[in-house]
Amino acid sequence: MKIANEISGEIALLEQLICLADDSLRHDGDRRKAASFMSKASEILFRQAKNADCIDRKRMLATHAANLLDTAIKLGDFDGPVKPHEHAVDVFGQQRQTRSAQITFDDIAGLVEVKQTLMQRLVFPLRYPEKIKKYRISTGGGMLLFGPSGTGKTLLARAIAGETGLPFFVIKSSEILSMYYGQSEKQLADLFAEAKRQPQGAVVFLDEIDAIGAKRSDGMNEASRRLINQLLQELDGVEGKNEKMIFIAATNEPWLLDEALLRPPRFVETCFVPLPDESARLELFQLALSGCPVAKDVLPEELIRQSDGFSGADIVNLCERAKLIPFCESISTHVERAVNMADFRCVMSKTRPSVNHSQLTRYINWINHQCKGD
Ligand SMILES: Nc1ncnc2c1ncn2[C@@H]1O[C@H](COP(=O)(O)OP(=O)(O)O)[C@@H](O)[C@H]1O
Ligand SMILES: [Mg+2]
Repeated sequence: MKIANEISGEIALLEQLICLADDSLRHDGDRRKAASFMSKASEILFRQAKNADCIDRKRMLATHAANLLDTAIKLGDFDGPVKPHEHAVDVFGQQRQTRSAQITFDDIAGLVEVKQTLMQRLVFPLRYPEKIKKYRISTGGGMLLFGPSGTGKTLLARAIAGETGLPFFVIKSSEILSMYYGQSEKQLADLFAEAKRQPQGAVVFLDEIDAIGAKRSDGMNEASRRLINQLLQELDGVEGKNEKMIFIAATNEPWLLDEALLRPPRFVETCFVPLPDESARLELFQLALSGCPVAKDVLPEELIRQSDGFSGADIVNLCERAKLIPFCESISTHVERAVNMADFRCVMSKTRPSVNHSQLTRYINWINHQCKGD
């Protein structure tokens, strides 16, 4: 209900912005003002594209957003040439390369098997190259992480950068999709080229890979087809292969992916990132509450029991909301008490896990289907 209200609120704002842009242009003849309203409207559409859960809607919204932004740039830029993709990146305020994330596997609760696989396949080959040679172990190929949202896929990719000390390149599919016609493939190729040029190697993380790696179908438009072909080419690393380039992709919906992407050598390993089990949930509570005063009446067993089915993100969010209660109280009462069990019960009573049973069944079915296919 809250989300529906937020979306309808955004649509009203969108309509208002477009009317304002129209007014600025027709009545005031102010092209720059019109451009700024349109650019704001495109930002909203890009955000909705990013959050859309259906691939067609994602594409449709991103195309509209890109068209609006195109008009905004043309209206606002009288003197210089239009540089669409630079502007699009500006609008997202995103950087292509982020500093090597400081997090490591120790900052990630549970996921013992996934961490072990990542360590063995991605980190050890870089740490022990002479042993890899000795045992003639083949390296390279990417790693696909899949699982419900909020289970730590992005965190795992960042931790690989932290463990290896390599620079971290993030490609957000929504960012790539928002590019101008023909710009998406170029952007993808440029990014891989930049990562390959890093002398010490790099970790490239393609988030929401389903948005650009969806199954090729007859109805698919030419631009999307070219983009997925470009992605396959990049993954095969035809030219200028950098031995130290680690490629990781993540998706919440692996069943959307094109079969060609799932075949080796594109991904040497696909890892399911599950919801946290009991011990991982305990670790998550400990991580989320570390450094915060916690009352003695807080019962870890109850927290663990009550958070069955919660994702890591749900648990972190739950703790943040519980901490807010004594924090807000302390502002008015000036008494700084510890977060207690009543705070947790209060927040728990209003919280539902973000992942439901039927979504989980879908992962199990997909995993079984993949195993049979082998
Ligand atoms: N296993 C975990 N350990 C620690 N924090 C976690 C874990 N899983 C999720 N989180 C919390 O949830 C947030 C979202 O996780 P993220 O990696 O973005 O999930 P995903 O990419 O799978 O949707 C993280 O920033 C972190 O606060
Ligand atoms: Mg993520």
